[in-house]
Amino acid sequence: MSKIDILIGAQWGDEGKGKWVDYLCPDFSVIARFQGGNNAGHTIYVDGEKQVLHLLPSGVFHDKLCVLLSGVVIDPIQLLAEIDAIRKTHGFTDANLIVSEKAHAITPFHVAKDISNEKKSNKIGTTKKGIGPSYGSKVSRTGLSMVHYIDKTKREAWIKEMIKSDPAFQQNYEEDKADWQKFIEAADQVKVYVKNAEAILRKKTKAGASLLLEGAQGALLDINHGTYPYVTSSSTIAAGACASLGIDPRKLNKICGVAKAYATRVGEGPFPTELFDSIGDMIREKGQEYGATTKRKRRCGWFDGLAFKYAVDLNGFDGVYLNKVDILGGMESIKLCTHYEHPILGVLHDFPSSADTLSECVPSYETLPGWDSDLSKCKTKKSLPKTLLNYVERIEELGGAKVLAVGTGPGPSDFINL
Ligand code: IMP
Repeated sequence: MSKIDILIGAQWGDEGKGKWVDYLCPDFSVIARFQGGNNAGHTIYVDGEKQVLHLLPSGVFHDKLCVLLSGVVIDPIQLLAEIDAIRKTHGFTDANLIVSEKAHAITPFHVAKDISNEKKSNKIGTTKKGIGPSYGSKVSRTGLSMVHYIDKTKREAWIKEMIKSDPAFQQNYEEDKADWQKFIEAADQVKVYVKNAEAILRKKTKAGASLLLEGAQGALLDINHGTYPYVTSSSTIAAGACASLGIDPRKLNKICGVAKAYATRVGEGPFPTELFDSIGDMIREKGQEYGATTKRKRRCGWFDGLAFKYAVDLNGFDGVYLNKVDILGGMESIKLCTHYEHPILGVLHDFPSSADTLSECVPSYETLPGWDSDLSKCKTKKSLPKTLLNYVERIEELGGAKVLAVGTGPGPSDFINL
């Protein structure tokens, strides 16, 4: 039956979305990514083996049609590397992938610019993959769309114009010859995938195909609504998915979120519930909170109920998958942030619109009893510890969204439906 669902990260990314895309995949014929690029890191376990994807949707492991929509930025070298790896291990064929003609290319210039920006004192803590500069070019109408990238004449004209108009580009083009060579050579291999993706999907869904729109990063990194400027450069929320695909938002079926039972963040930017003590270290080690893309240590903290409510409001979640409840197991008590205190504004129950205000907020917590470290014997909701269910209930109350299931381990079947 035709349906269009969306899955979104409800925090600062790294919520474990890959696991749920993987779980939901059998119900869909098409899986599409609508924003971001190879800054993402989707870790999933396929046949017991850890797999990390940066650009391709997780649906590639299920022999589904996978699509990179107009709002995605594409590093062609990374794209070909992922296709190569999947082709060898999971029987990927060219018919499995469509790349939007309207998506924009990440060129060697964009990567170099990202790396150089990150050397400045006002760095964002990006993944240095060229994401922001590529979106920057797109928005300032000097970018290289995929349909132009694969067309030799258009691509050469674009390069010529950029050399003429931007001395920094000219310098990069002359100094980074090897990377430019690889970038240009990749175009012929990428060509086969580049199509009018959005029109194809609109037609398919009208004819009954079911589509899952897979988010990358998380709601709090959204370019419009996140903790600007410490955000990614795309719209990570459900409305961004509609814009990237170009559909009537009323055609959506379900919008679901993915959160972790605690919070993490990578890169710079305010994070009120961040822990700087041994509990934060324990969460990082036990939860293996290291970046899948950059290997950076993730900053860890308590679950932020106020930020979660904001993410629920931004997306209208029909339900949320709550990952990694096992990581908090074995603690006597667990803190849950219910609201903030601000030195001038007083008690805040709404997420501040400015990152400056957010950085001045002090989280107010309620303390809840913890649960046993071993959840391996729990197979049903009834068998879960009462204290864990109590914690989940408080999260539901604070956020105003139902928790659909809890993740109890890294494996694909390590979860319990609620
Ligand atoms: P960019 O997306 O590489 O430009 O980085 C901008 C911000 O988003 C930085 O704080 C990154 O750490 C963060 N970010 C980008 N991708 C991810 C992700 O997949 N998970 C978590 N944070 C991310």
